Amino acid sequence: MKAVRLHELGGPEKLVIEEVPKPAPAPGEILVRIKRAALNRRDVFITQGLYPGIELPKTLGSDACGEIAELGDGVRGPAVGTPVIIDPTIGWGPNRRVWQRDVTILGLPREGTFAQYVAVPAENVHAKPAALSDDEAAAIPLAGLTAYRAAFTRGKLTKDDLVLITGIGGGVQTFVLLFAKHAGARTIVTSSSDEKLERAKALGADAAINYKTDAEWHKQLRKVGEPTLVIDSAGGETLGRALDAAAYGARIVIYGGTAGNATVRPYSIFWKQLDIMGTSMGSPQDFEEMVALFGAGMRPVVDRVYPLEHIAEAAERVNVNAQFGKVVLAVA
Ligand SMILES: NC(=O)c1ccc[n+]([C@@H]2O[C@H](COP(=O)([O-])OP(=O)(O)OC[C@H]3O[C@@H](n4cnc5c(N)ncnc54)[C@H](OP(=O)(O)O)[C@@H]3O)[C@@H](O)[C@H]2O)c1
Repeated sequence: MKAVRLHELGGPEKLVIEEVPKPAPAPGEILVRIKRAALNRRDVFITQGLYPGIELPKTLGSDACGEIAELGDGVRGPAVGTPVIIDPTIGWGPNRRVWQRDVTILGLPREGTFAQYVAVPAENVHAKPAALSDDEAAAIPLAGLTAYRAAFTRGKLTKDDLVLITGIGGGVQTFVLLFAKHAGARTIVTSSSDEKLERAKALGADAAINYKTDAEWHKQLRKVGEPTLVIDSAGGETLGRALDAAAYGARIVIYGGTAGNATVRPYSIFWKQLDIMGTSMGSPQDFEEMVALFGAGMRPVVDRVYPLEHIAEAAERVNVNAQFGKVVLAVA
């Protein structure tokens, strides 16, 4: 089968298409024929050597939409040909509050979805929401799951919140915006791009601030209101400023650190009695609840669809933050 392989570190241009043996499903696994895959920042970080536990060569990719090709021993249904998506969290464990230590994410160390076939544990295979196109369905697993858990399971998002969403161009953050609007909350988004801010407003963002052209963006933010819930994956200077701008008693949910380590003022945290929470991926229950939202009329934001052969170009688009929403790969 065709697969995108990474043999050496050095950025997205090191991703190459190769012929590799089609995997066979082990007992308890399902083989999925992939139609569409989608990129995450994680894939780019791996090519750059910026991710723990890198093993090469590897087929990257955590997201996929496709159909069931073969059932491993001991797996009863769904039938071959059923349209499916894949939950990329492998082995969350029994505790919804936190994943177990030996959890992994599809696409490292396990061979991933930038290929014509992938074998995964049967419990990770879910029905594709019928209302979504293949492109849309491939866009939701990793980013939708992370956003759902950040917003609802950890952040306890309700209609009464004013939610600060930093860096709205990010794949995960566009889902946070969709979920916040669905819940009826008000939202403030930031971005390095005025064009992305306009797109976010069209999706329902109530206020939009450019953090690149306005170095004092956090002061603009205060004019709009004090966020009661902050969802951030930038870290860096952004996190400290967001903490300073947050309301008394606000919840702060962090799932990434794209802009590097953060320096924060303890005063903002203790005086305003902030709750700072970390989150990663999501439990099987989070995944099911997230997918249900997409069965009820919500649609993810797809940025662009590239043929699998254009993987390096697609990954570079994510690398330079040009995307708004999810970058999808057409495999079949
Ligand atoms: N813990 C987990 O389970 C988990 C899951 C998914 C992602 N992550 C992490 O979360 C981060 C985002 O992932 P993703 O896949 O959504 O990435 P992505 O689609 O590549 O989005 C990155 C976005 O971050 C924003 N950004 C970059 N620097 C910023 C800054 N200084 N201030 C504010 N925003 C900034 C940019 O938004 P604009 O273009 O609007 O400026 C950019 O588009 C990555 O670090 C990723 O590793 C973690």
